[in-house]
Amino acid sequence: MPKSKTIQSVKGMHDILPADQAYWQQVQKKASQLLTDYGFDRIDTPLVESTPLFLRSIGDETDIVEKELYAFKTKGGDELALRPEITAGMVRAYIEHGMQVMPQPVKLWSYGPVFRHDQPQAGRYRQFYQLDVESFGDESAVSDAESIQLALLWLESLGFKNLTIRINSIGDANCRPQYLKALRDYLKPQTKKLCVSCRNRMKKNVLRVLDCKVPTCHEVVLNAPQLVGYLDDACKAHFKQLIEFLDEIRAPYLLDPYLVRGLDYYTRTVFEILVEEEKPREAKAAEAVVEAENLKEGEEPEKPLRIEPAEIENLTGLALVGGGRYDGLISLLGGQKTPAVGWAAGIERIVMLLKARDINVPPARPQPKVFLAQIGELAKRKSLVLFEQLRKAGIVTSSSLGKDSIKAQLRMANRVRAKYTLIVGQKEALDHSVILREMDTGVQEFVGVDDIVEAILWKRSGRD
Ligand code: HAM
Repeated sequence: MPKSKTIQSVKGMHDILPADQAYWQQVQKKASQLLTDYGFDRIDTPLVESTPLFLRSIGDETDIVEKELYAFKTKGGDELALRPEITAGMVRAYIEHGMQVMPQPVKLWSYGPVFRHDQPQAGRYRQFYQLDVESFGDESAVSDAESIQLALLWLESLGFKNLTIRINSIGDANCRPQYLKALRDYLKPQTKKLCVSCRNRMKKNVLRVLDCKVPTCHEVVLNAPQLVGYLDDACKAHFKQLIEFLDEIRAPYLLDPYLVRGLDYYTRTVFEILVEEEKPREAKAAEAVVEAENLKEGEEPEKPLRIEPAEIENLTGLALVGGGRYDGLISLLGGQKTPAVGWAAGIERIVMLLKARDINVPPARPQPKVFLAQIGELAKRKSLVLFEQLRKAGIVTSSSLGKDSIKAQLRMANRVRAKYTLIVGQKEALDHSVILREMDTGVQEFVGVDDIVEAILWKRSGRD
């Protein structure tokens, strides 16, 4: 018979191995603690939703929906899709479970896998985990500020330094159309300089030309009209307030007029959080917003609120967090008009960076204090009971009951760096005793099996 081929994991999907679990646990633990303290409740929504949910919310002309959605038709004819993000499902749940009648804001968080048929590369997977944090029902800029602050606090609690928030306002349905027209008018005579994707974007989603990474497109974009100059008074005031809140909490932000994000549902605030290699630069754009405040609609700011290209290149790597406000989404999906703001973080990227920066995390399993070694059948049976007694007393124990050689078991005890080894041989099993060996000194004593838990607890409290 031919040797069967081994089956590999699916491209872009990965295992989270035991050696990495400590990082994953830490990331979740810190999030759960912080979000609970700030009054957020956990919600879990299905991994599969109806496809139209994503078409309507994220937008059917976005890359996420057009190119990356895992969509399929069931035998019964239902159009379903693996969720490419969590926000849309959360909004569906918010409407479906009548959360609009609850006291607002309703603050929710979720954690789990999402799926995007993206081109796999470092930090880019086809199945990846998101932490998603949303606040429904509060229109004020302080809600955006709190949302951003939470992301910062969480990343800082994990040990990250040099965080940078890239932030922009993309206006709303009232003022954005004027800007889109101005942008199209500006780009049209330069269409030839744009990449093929951007030529398409000009027809379907012109805003995305702004964050194209192709150098020729970027060059064209550098002199494009800027969104901030087209914000109406309400959007401008909202953005200005948000910037003032961010100043108050000393958030390391940088205004990025090219940040538009890849999902259609955003209104006003959009932001991303990255880690920089070097010290964060001074947040410097607040005055520029104040200047922009005085502008009339449709005018360009005198001093464009632009980050120099070199500065953008300095922001290394990939966004850890992406988010923004989406005041139109709940009504778009059939609910009452409700403002909302939130963000999601990619956990793989965070774990990658924690490891790359040698940031320590507590072990996934505590260090065993005791190793339980045994020789013979009767000793094995006694050991099963003894192990549970030790565990119940809170004494972290390790064992290898399948092994028969005492030498091999002592080697293991050393490898797990146990402070004590308990040895149960045939004789000890018969006369209800245990040998208690101190691993550092090799000193051994006999202890009655009924006294062993207390003996270890006493040693731990007294001499350790
Ligand atoms: P997003 O920017 O598409 O936003 O994704 C959020 C985060 O997921 C990114 O910042 C990144 O860390 C991570 N991420 C994205 N794509 C990949 C990938 N292929 N592999 C690994 N990690 C990835 C959203 O998903 C919005 N739902 C965020 C939001 C919540 N906006 C408002 N509320």
